[in-house]
Amino acid sequence: MFPKETYIQRRAQLKKAIGSGLLIFLGNGESPMNYTDNTYRFRQDSSFLYYFGLDCAGLAAIIDIDNDSEAVFGNELTIDDIVWTGTMPTLSEMAAGYGIYNTLPLSQLGACIHSAKSKGQEIHFLPPYRGEHKVWLQELLGISPSEQSSKASVPFIKAIVNQRNHKTAEEIEEIEKALDISTNMHLTAYRMARPGVHEAEIAAAVEQVACRGGECLAFPTIATVQGQVLHNHGFIHTLKEGDIFLLDAGAESKLHYSGDLSSSMPVGEKFSERQEAIYNIHLASFRAAVDTLAPGVPFKKAHLAAAAKICEGMKELGLMKGDPVEAANIGAYALFFPCGIGHMMGLDVHDMENLGEQYVGYSDGEQKSKQFGFKSLRLARPLEEGFVFTVEPGIYLVPELIDKWNAEKQFTDFINYDKLGPWRDFTGLRNELNYVITKDGARLLGNIKKPMTIEEVYKAKNI
Ligand code: GLY
Ligand code: MN
Repeated sequence: MFPKETYIQRRAQLKKAIGSGLLIFLGNGESPMNYTDNTYRFRQDSSFLYYFGLDCAGLAAIIDIDNDSEAVFGNELTIDDIVWTGTMPTLSEMAAGYGIYNTLPLSQLGACIHSAKSKGQEIHFLPPYRGEHKVWLQELLGISPSEQSSKASVPFIKAIVNQRNHKTAEEIEEIEKALDISTNMHLTAYRMARPGVHEAEIAAAVEQVACRGGECLAFPTIATVQGQVLHNHGFIHTLKEGDIFLLDAGAESKLHYSGDLSSSMPVGEKFSERQEAIYNIHLASFRAAVDTLAPGVPFKKAHLAAAAKICEGMKELGLMKGDPVEAANIGAYALFFPCGIGHMMGLDVHDMENLGEQYVGYSDGEQKSKQFGFKSLRLARPLEEGFVFTVEPGIYLVPELIDKWNAEKQFTDFINYDKLGPWRDFTGLRNELNYVITKDGARLLGNIKKPMTIEEVYKAKNI
């Protein structure tokens, strides 16, 4: 845990930003996989962790700004809990470690909220993302699940986003711990990707690196030779000569901060000529994006810079035509790069996506596009000191998308559909690194270098 002053100061800042009312924080419960006692790995809600630190199931908390009080609600262990899951300090002992000196049984949460409501206090709650929380909020507030997201408190969301978007030095240190483990996960994959090895073997070895020190995964691993499937979580292929192996994997630190890296490598000793050409276009797009990173510069500029480089490279290969910058601005690039170039990262790998991408990644008044490609850009706003995010351009050939766009005659001034036939089975590749915005630029995070250039990739394969 961070020093208790960190949590006290975070809550004080939040109270000041919102000004009045009662703030409700619902901690996460255990989540059953297939019956009650067979649960997924417990993961506390990230805003609960950020303000209250307590990393155990079945808690809630309130901050009563009007009466300058705060409380954590939860049940002390019964003898059955102790027999089955072991003992731990009392809730009041644990809460004191985070500067909370008022703990109450969970059953009193409803009465506390009811009393605040009857006194006319404004009740602030966050949009729920778990079914149990929807039921709980309905019981606490009488709001039906279908209305909860639209009735969630926008000032509460915005205040949290504004705070959590700016990472402090102690948070960045924690993110770099996660990243160093993540880089070692990737170095393992570079060494293992060989013909005859199964995707599941690499995934297992990579996950072992994440978990062996007591940390765990920040998100489900992608380890695939079908990299054009963006969130490909099945491990079903045996690697063969000529494939490109793509790993997107990251560790979560003990305090639950994420790392998120991607790597692409040849399964054989070297990339083919075609693969090398696409890999180098992708590297140029990566550099173009990184060159834009600075405080005050919209992240959309990084996205467009990468997209233009991809269009430029695809034009050189004869797959596109026209002005690459125009092809990027108009959205034609999305045939080869159908996702966004990156996202905020912190306690969540897509930080605060549960609170709304519109609030996290876009400025007030800037609406997220609904156009294919641009609609997947999670972060577009001008960057500020302390923002931590990923940069992850990729080039993907998705046969179904090529066929659809071709049939619809999409962007025919920019795409040479007649030349794409031999490229349909190319699959896809990306690299991903994580950055923090500094006072006058951006810093690559992590203490261990992940291979990026073709030379570095070949070297990492042979270590
Ligand atoms: N690492 C998975 C993602 O960024 O979506
Ligand atoms: Mn990512």
